[in-house]
Amino acid sequence: MSIKASEEVLAGLDNWRGLPAKHQPEWPDGDAVDAVTAELREWPPLVFAGEADSLKEKLAAAGRGEAFLLQGGDCAETFAESTADHIRNKIRTILQMAAVLTYGASVPIVKMGRMAGQYAKPRSSTVETRDGVTLPAYLGDAVNGHAFTEAARRPDPRRLLTAYHHSATTINLIRAFTQGGYADLRLVHDWNRGFMSNPAYARYEVLAGEIDRAMRFMDAAGVDFDALKTVDFYSSHEALLLEYESAMTRIDSRTGNPYNTSAHFLWIGERTRQVDGAHVEMLARVRNPIGVKLGPTSTGADAIALMDKLNPDGEPGRLTFVTRMGAGRIRDNLPSLVEQVTADGRPVTWVCDPMHGNTITSASGYKTRELATILDEVHGFFEVHKALGTVPGGLHVELTGDDVTEVLGGSEEVDDAALAQRYETLVDPRLNHQQSLEMAFDVAEMLRGH
Ligand code: PEP
Ligand code: CO
Repeated sequence: MSIKASEEVLAGLDNWRGLPAKHQPEWPDGDAVDAVTAELREWPPLVFAGEADSLKEKLAAAGRGEAFLLQGGDCAETFAESTADHIRNKIRTILQMAAVLTYGASVPIVKMGRMAGQYAKPRSSTVETRDGVTLPAYLGDAVNGHAFTEAARRPDPRRLLTAYHHSATTINLIRAFTQGGYADLRLVHDWNRGFMSNPAYARYEVLAGEIDRAMRFMDAAGVDFDALKTVDFYSSHEALLLEYESAMTRIDSRTGNPYNTSAHFLWIGERTRQVDGAHVEMLARVRNPIGVKLGPTSTGADAIALMDKLNPDGEPGRLTFVTRMGAGRIRDNLPSLVEQVTADGRPVTWVCDPMHGNTITSASGYKTRELATILDEVHGFFEVHKALGTVPGGLHVELTGDDVTEVLGGSEEVDDAALAQRYETLVDPRLNHQQSLEMAFDVAEMLRGH
């Protein structure tokens, strides 16, 4: 039997329409947007309500210190790079990091990709000027093209349909890789095959050897390995484009509750988290686990107003605060935020995004970040939570599985001159495969010490 949503619930799903909405594209043709969203509404959900519910339980556990979230992927996925190889490399990177964290810190890791839907970006300027020519800024492949031509930069709502298709093929591949045998922990060595000799890889090899031995011991002791063959791997993206997210919001026939079926987990960015704005209103109505980014100027009052709106009853796992303060500010700004939220009593899961507060421009002009600064913010995050007796619940990172040169530092010592070698991101700089593993080893130690 299917349960229908009440009139009131259905009406509430459109409440966002009357509210101020930041960072929305200026679509040239409103009718074309309506035609696209009507079509999207007919297409199947990409995730199920039950999956979002199990993720919510795991995030609740992370909030209590019984698990730890690892959320990673590109700043912006692109259509061109949603190939099998790129997707596999990202999944493998996250699985390897998770193996390091699980083994190093003996805590279950909740694995989540900034994947299968991360196609839209808020930008600091709506336009970009090059050599005296001004065009609309690139807002992500779901909106316009990156090429600097008038035709490419014009927002095209049909790109929303393409974004759906790429999300569908990506989540399909994620499911195949993580349920079809590739993620079996007994392949922990194979994941490292083909990487050049490098301190991070050598360290990983040693750890893989230890995991191997532990597996052989368990095998000899008659442990059933079925649980190690597959992993749960969740999808997430910033819920930025209201028309798309609205079209993907569906009623779960089992409960009559609305869920955003474009991803398991959706977050609201630092620039669209206005408590009376359209984004907060929209996500207040769905039952998925939700994140909100909190930058360095966020106050305890902001956080509590967001809790009132997004998690009034204090459901565990429903609300994750992703802090992104910057390494220079986290030790000063995070404590009072955490104290005020803790005093409120409703549970939240605290996650650290050490990327977005630490973006710099290198001397040669690249938008970059330094691995040491990124790690310093994570250290600050752990220190603050330790001092307050609260729980560091996870890590949110921009990474890729490929050997790009976008972030400075690491054991391969990417320097300013090296950035030009493989700087491929269209938006923010990502940790490469090797830097990601280094981060995992460092965080495993912090977790163990906590
Ligand atoms: C992002 O996650 O890519 C992003 C834009 O972050 P923030 O909202 O924290 O600036
Ligand atoms: Co980014």
